[in-house]
Amino acid sequence: MTAPEPALLQVHRVTKRFGAIRAVDAVDLELRIGESVGLIGPNGAGKSTLLALLSGDLRVSEGELTLEGRDVSRMPAHARVVAGIARAAQIPQTFARLSVHDNVLLSAMFGARLHRRAAEDWCAHVLGLVGLGDRSDDQAGALGLLDRKRLELAKAVAASPRVLLLDEIAAGLTEPEVETIMDVVRGLQEGRAIVWVEHIPAALRGTCTRLVVMDKGVKTHDGPFAEVWADKRLQEIYMGVPDDDIAAH
Ligand SMILES: Nc1ncnc2c1ncn2[C@@H]1O[C@H](COP(=O)(O)OP(=O)(O)OP(=O)(O)O)[C@@H](O)[C@H]1O
Ligand SMILES: [Mg+2]
Repeated sequence: MTAPEPALLQVHRVTKRFGAIRAVDAVDLELRIGESVGLIGPNGAGKSTLLALLSGDLRVSEGELTLEGRDVSRMPAHARVVAGIARAAQIPQTFARLSVHDNVLLSAMFGARLHRRAAEDWCAHVLGLVGLGDRSDDQAGALGLLDRKRLELAKAVAASPRVLLLDEIAAGLTEPEVETIMDVVRGLQEGRAIVWVEHIPAALRGTCTRLVVMDKGVKTHDGPFAEVWADKRLQEIYMGVPDDDIAAH
């Protein structure tokens, strides 16, 4: 009998306290390569805090994070990017005066640790993946919202992460633009695990096979997307979704 493939990322009873608030409370999570996980929950549920604990932007108060068998719980964010965990932020964190190309190149060199020549090739590939191949020379600050979101994704992907964390990358986009971002995310799934936090259920439904729900810092659901989504208790917890939306999806 062959042993089951070990998890890429293991999250064990991870907790984050802000004073008296337990923003994330003893969360367990396992991610495997090829999985795309949607993460939902009402405002203040702890979703962004959990992503920040995974990316190292916040330090855990308790619990452990293990990436490919290695304890990364106390590793700072920049080292976690190199180790294989990268986050695309809700508010794009680009160097506005640099070109699209240079923003992504920096990430390829410092995140994926590639030398200049290899970084150039990788950068061109990643820009193609996110649909920015023809905007390479544009100044990042001059891009419209959809292209800024593409660039934020490209910067995260250029670091070659095994675990790609997406925090509300579709927020503020029109419906057709959300479809475009879904296509881009689908093209990024191979060889890695994705965790996508989003308040637009249709975006996650069309992209993710698994759904995790948080409420008040606690993980309340975790399972196949359709199964979790059909749970009645979920719709009581997830106040952010109007009834019409639930019926429509
Ligand atoms: N830096 C901080 N200092 C103090 N409290 C914080 C901090 N960051 C988050 N919190 C609190 O932790 C809880 C979880 O917040 P978090 O931003 O993770 O929620 P969220 O699920 O991402 O919500 P949203 O859907 O609104 O983005 C909230 O009560 C929030 O006020
Ligand atoms: Mg958030």
